[in-house]
Amino acid sequence: MDKREEAIKLLRTWVRQQHASGIERVVYDRDHEAGVLLEEKPVAVAEVETAIPALRDSLESKFPAWSGSELLPLAEEILACENCGLCESRTQAVPGVGNAKAKLVFVGEAPGAEEDRQGIPFVGRAGQLLDKILAAIDLSRDDVHILNILKCRPPENRNPAPDEIVACRPFLERQLEILEPKIIVGLGLFASQWLTGKKISLTKLRETGPHEYAGIQVYATYHPAALLRNPNWKRPAWVDFQAIRKEYDRL
Ligand code: URA
Repeated sequence: MDKREEAIKLLRTWVRQQHASGIERVVYDRDHEAGVLLEEKPVAVAEVETAIPALRDSLESKFPAWSGSELLPLAEEILACENCGLCESRTQAVPGVGNAKAKLVFVGEAPGAEEDRQGIPFVGRAGQLLDKILAAIDLSRDDVHILNILKCRPPENRNPAPDEIVACRPFLERQLEILEPKIIVGLGLFASQWLTGKKISLTKLRETGPHEYAGIQVYATYHPAALLRNPNWKRPAWVDFQAIRKEYDRL
């Protein structure tokens, strides 16, 4: 990608973000250093480049915990991604959230409605339960990292389609490569199968773990949304989370 294309992609990402946060119109102000152009005419490189520092600043303020980390330019790519059809229906892509030095990473399935609106993973009902589970093992979002296998919301929260999982795969692979966690937890069947490469039931994955992804320990457990649907699974999930906490303390 040449400089101009890259700049325009970044600009488009930023405009989408503004739109998602309720801003309808962005006007270019030539006299202002952080001016952004959005008019029906070709965008000159120099003009876009003028806007880039402001765009990067806005990304840094959205992901302050990733400042200085390779996670930030990767988030920029994710926000601009058009590698599958989900880019048509999303409000915005949801790169992830958390501590760039976390040794524990949770991987979910895909953003839901609230995540698509806010641009942050696990902020809906399932996310609130995840926060409570974390608190019960004496951890918070600030201690861990939370990612999804798909970065964009599937319409009506349907299951991820195989081609979407393939298209999005490199993003999660690169995030895990950058983070180098000690433990990864797959939340639910899709994430657990993604991480282990094993096409078996979640029950079997739970029973036969911990597994391994690129030399990193992988635990498979219930998705918090499943725990909301079936409270009988809360007890076995609690056993999983206690084991995860024990291993976390050991590493
Ligand atoms: N469910 C997920 O798998 N991920 C989210 O970010 C929210 C709900």
